[in-house]
Amino acid sequence: TMEVIERVDTIRERMQTLRCSGKRIGFVPTMGALHEGHLQLLRASVQENDITVCSIFVNPTQFNNPDDYKLYPRTIEQDTELLKTVGCDILFAPKAEDVYIQQSLLQFSFGPLEAVMEGEHRPGHFNGVATVVSKLFHYVQPHRAYFGQKDLQQVAIVKQLVTGLSFDVEVVRYPIVREEDGLAMSSRNKRLDAKQRQAAPSLYGALQLAKQQLGNKPVYSIKAAVEAYLSSMDEVQLEYFEITDPDTLRPLTEVQPGQEVALCIAAFVGPVRLIDNMLVNLN
Ligand code: PAJ
Repeated sequence: TMEVIERVDTIRERMQTLRCSGKRIGFVPTMGALHEGHLQLLRASVQENDITVCSIFVNPTQFNNPDDYKLYPRTIEQDTELLKTVGCDILFAPKAEDVYIQQSLLQFSFGPLEAVMEGEHRPGHFNGVATVVSKLFHYVQPHRAYFGQKDLQQVAIVKQLVTGLSFDVEVVRYPIVREEDGLAMSSRNKRLDAKQRQAAPSLYGALQLAKQQLGNKPVYSIKAAVEAYLSSMDEVQLEYFEITDPDTLRPLTEVQPGQEVALCIAAFVGPVRLIDNMLVNLN
């Protein structure tokens, strides 16, 4: 049976007890509307730890777009049932008033890491992520925390947060889980209509196209090819495509044989903003 905890005080106390009794705690923070991507993170945690905690909290401070926050899918009942099927031990689902008892004025700075891609296009986003992840780590006190490669820049931010503030947490990066047609699973996919859903795998198509050309063509011409490919798609509006260093996320203007790179993309499909990425080893 899964425990469901809403209150910050309650989860703190519960986790304190579990930790003191020697349990290894695995933690999967989410914003709910759970899909197979989330569930795989949870299964990994259940396998690798004594106790698995999942948090569901649609964090208001990380949304730079008010509509995106308002329209973000909320399916807590269905989520609760799914969590039971994967063997999650504790669901922590707090209220915003309990997490943010007063307006948070804390400002994080991640240097070059937040000057590019998601940091550049979603002002304040990573500040909100860092704030809520710090709070959640304090409440849950996990030994390990699981994050998806789907949000590659978020993983880099969280690692910098953990190092910078000496959190005693091991950050695990889990591979991207995709639909059969290649579309990276995302809670926001639920907001796509039929036509948009059909167009959405073109983000993955663009990454594959770029991967094929990598090492054969210069970076600028690969970027042009990606732009041309996506401009032919109705419904799809490219925001950025970058070939980057997989750790620093610094955009690269040329690549060397033997190098590992991360191909990163963000685009609007209809009104829904989607991201995807791919790690590639160059021969
Ligand atoms: P959310 O978008 O719900 O994602 C929760 C976790 O699931 C993140 O680590 C994300 O990278 C991972 N995930 C989502 N889709 C995935 C996929 N297709 N394959 C693999 N992993 C996937 O990311 C957040 O919530 C929030 O920013 C959060 C960290 C909870 C802070 O509010």
